[in-house]
Order: sequence, then structure tokens, then C-alpha cells
Amino acid sequence: MNNPDQYAVFGHPVNHSKSPRIHQLFAQQTEQNLVYKAQDVPAKSFNHTIDTFFTQGGGKGINCTVPLKELAYQRADSLSKRAQFSKAVNTLVLQEDGTLYGDNTDGIGLVTDLSDNHSIPLQNSRVLILGAGGASRGIIEPLMKKSPACLVIANRTVEKAITLRNEFSQLGDISGCGYDQLKGKEFDLILNATSASLTGKMPNITKSILAKNACCYDLAYSNQQTTFVKWGVANGTQKNLDGLGMLVEQAAESFYIWRGVRPETSAVIELLNSERNNP
Ligand code: ATR
Repeated sequence: MNNPDQYAVFGHPVNHSKSPRIHQLFAQQTEQNLVYKAQDVPAKSFNHTIDTFFTQGGGKGINCTVPLKELAYQRADSLSKRAQFSKAVNTLVLQEDGTLYGDNTDGIGLVTDLSDNHSIPLQNSRVLILGAGGASRGIIEPLMKKSPACLVIANRTVEKAITLRNEFSQLGDISGCGYDQLKGKEFDLILNATSASLTGKMPNITKSILAKNACCYDLAYSNQQTTFVKWGVANGTQKNLDGLGMLVEQAAESFYIWRGVRPETSAVIELLNSERNNP
């Protein structure tokens, strides 16, 4: 058998990443001969490590996670449309001519998890994104493609929400505001794209923004319920989900870009869910 093609996730820190496990399951399922590892890469070593991986290590593709997605965006020789919109790259592909193609599969991963795995309607829904950082930027364009009634970006630092709104305003009804300006508004879907939840904090929102049958979705995932998911549960929302499904779906899209084969995701999500329920 030929030497397996090499893939990796680069991040800092990266030791808790579930990506090697997910891609190993995909490779088994689709009978692809590949190796996928996690590699701790501080930002200052990023370009050097990329060069080594692709020129000496038999590397074919890389996933990049925090804090390297913007660096990967700068490093790519060519970019997909969705990477251009998000100004961040989570998937690098070595092309036949030796150049690196950059894509961003985070947004499509979220939309696939919402629509296909959880039947959460997006068309004509009132959608609220909490946060205006990189995670928010990556999901706006794929969400707008699903024609929501409106998309509101709320952020602690109001100017960042407005800047993001201005950047994407040609895609439809998007507004940007602070949390206090949400008073009197209701949303069908609330997406937490802040990093607050991971440190046990909550954006400053109140129950009054929840429409009847509202759903809460935290882009972050954790073995325990995240603070945002707990908030949704405590306030009786219909569905409360964290980002494990999004993680698997973005990985499936990366795998497809690299290998031309689309893995089946539901069994993988189910397995990872059962593992975190029974650590
Ligand atoms: P990422 O690239 O992961 O989105 P980021 O660019 O640092 O990370 O953005 C983090 C987001 O979480 C921001 O929207 C930040 O709000 P500010 O722009 O006001 O800093 C938000 N955030 C972090 N901690 C928060 C908290 N305790 N309450 C509310 N928002 C918080």
C-alpha cells in the first residue's frame, strides 16, 4: 500500500481537539488511506510549520483552529468565496501546482447541523447572533443564503456589531446593535458566537427576546452543558444545542474538499455524543 496522505489540525492549544478522532472515523467509514494528527502550532511558528508540513512531510491538507484562522487566510494563495467573506480559513488544501487553496467550512457546518440534523427552520426566521468576532463573521453569509426574515448581530462592543453589519449589508436585512437594544424584540433562533460561555459567563440578554418555540445554539461545545445551553434550558426554549454537530459537519465538508468523498455524519455525531455522556 502507498504511504498514507498526511492531514493535521493546527491550533494553539490543540490537545483537546476532537478533529483527529472525527477524521479517523471518516477515513475508516469511506476506506480512505490517510493519517490525521493534531499539531500544537503557536502563531509565530505558523508559516514555517506549514512549509515543512507540505514540502517535507507528505502533507495534503490542514485544518486551522484558534488562533490561526486569520493567518491561514493570509497564507492561502487562493480562496473560496466563503473564505473571502469570513476573512478566515479553517481548511487548507495542497493543489497539484504546489499552491495552497483556502476555504472556510465553519458556516456551512453550522447550517447543515441546524437544517439537516435538527430541522430548525431558517427561512423566514428571526435570527440573532450574539458576538461580533471571528466566529460570527464565518457564519453570516451561509445563514443569509437561507433567507431568514432578519439577522441581528448583537455585541458587548456595539461598534464591532455595526462594522460587521456594514460589511455584510448587501446580503439582506442585517442589523447590528448592543444587548440593551434587543429590548422589545423576539427571535426564533439565538446563536451564541461569543467566547463568554466557555469562561462560564453569559452575554447580557434577557428571556424577553425568546419567541415562542425559540431555539438556542452555542457554537462552542463542551463535555458539560455550556453556560449558554444552561440558560436556554432554564428559560424553557424548545431546542438547546451546542456546537458538536457543527464541528462534525465542518469536518465532513473539509474531508469532502480533500478526498472528494462525503462521509456520513449522523453515526459519528451519535458516537461522540455518547462518549461525552459516558466519559
Ligand atoms: P472569535 O474569533 O472566537 O469570535 P473574538 O474575535 O475574540 O473571538 O470575539 C469574541 C466575542 O465574544 C466578541 O464578540 C466578544 O465581545 P467584545 O467584542 O465586546 O469583546 C465576545 N465576548 C467575550 N467575552 C464576553 C462576555 N463576557 N460577555 C459578552 N461578550 C463577550
